[in-house]
Amino acid sequence: MGNDASRPEENRLAATEGVSGAELLEAVRHGRFWLNLTRIDLADARYRELIEALYGQLIEVAPHFRPKSCQGSVLISSPQALVYYHADAPANMLWHIRGRKRIWIYPALDERYLQRDLLEDIFAGVRHEYLPYHQSYDQAAVCYDVAPGQWVAWPHNAPHRVTNLEGLNISLATEHFTAATLRRQRVYVANRFLRTRLGWKHPSPRETGAVAMLKSVAYRCVARLGLDPLQYKRYAPVLRINAQAPGGVTALADAKSLPA
Ligand SMILES: [Fe+2]
Repeated sequence: MGNDASRPEENRLAATEGVSGAELLEAVRHGRFWLNLTRIDLADARYRELIEALYGQLIEVAPHFRPKSCQGSVLISSPQALVYYHADAPANMLWHIRGRKRIWIYPALDERYLQRDLLEDIFAGVRHEYLPYHQSYDQAAVCYDVAPGQWVAWPHNAPHRVTNLEGLNISLATEHFTAATLRRQRVYVANRFLRTRLGWKHPSPRETGAVAMLKSVAYRCVARLGLDPLQYKRYAPVLRINAQAPGGVTALADAKSLPA
């Protein structure tokens, strides 16, 4: 990534195929990277057990919290790394393990910080999570410095951004799905269909009640019938990890020939 929190377009994907774990870590230690070990719970049953145990402890202290499923990724990031202002579709949390970082969390479901149509697109998977950001937003943010052993959670879809403060940073990022988060996802994806395909202006974001349920059921039929083909947005790598190179990367000469 770049150095300016307001320029997410500077973020680029580096290919890692054929790069050893040791070389990856070396590059992350000295460059400006986020290494995202996605769905580590699928790769190793010990992580599955760990994540389930963590959620089990949360459920013990918050009995009204009823996740239907949970999953996780391990984030390893450079001492100077930043994460641009963004909102995630699933509800998520950060369990911090190593290094120090600062996180800013902005009001959730507030159109001043995240327009509703952008959240609809994020839920539908047709745009990246990065959002337009202005420094003045920080006045509405809560900001925490996070040390190893600390845990951060925020309201579902609240925009957030991160700047690492010190050392190689390692965190477990978990996602969970509840009846409420799934209901919101269905309403927002249905609203996107109404907005983009049927020309509805500002369909209601109300998540409960007969209309919300009707929209969700109708959209399920639309999706099953293939009436709303979605162009999922994915990054294409333009760099390759090379721990010996300055910055830990070299340009990928055949970037266009690699699958997105
Ligand atoms: Fe996030």
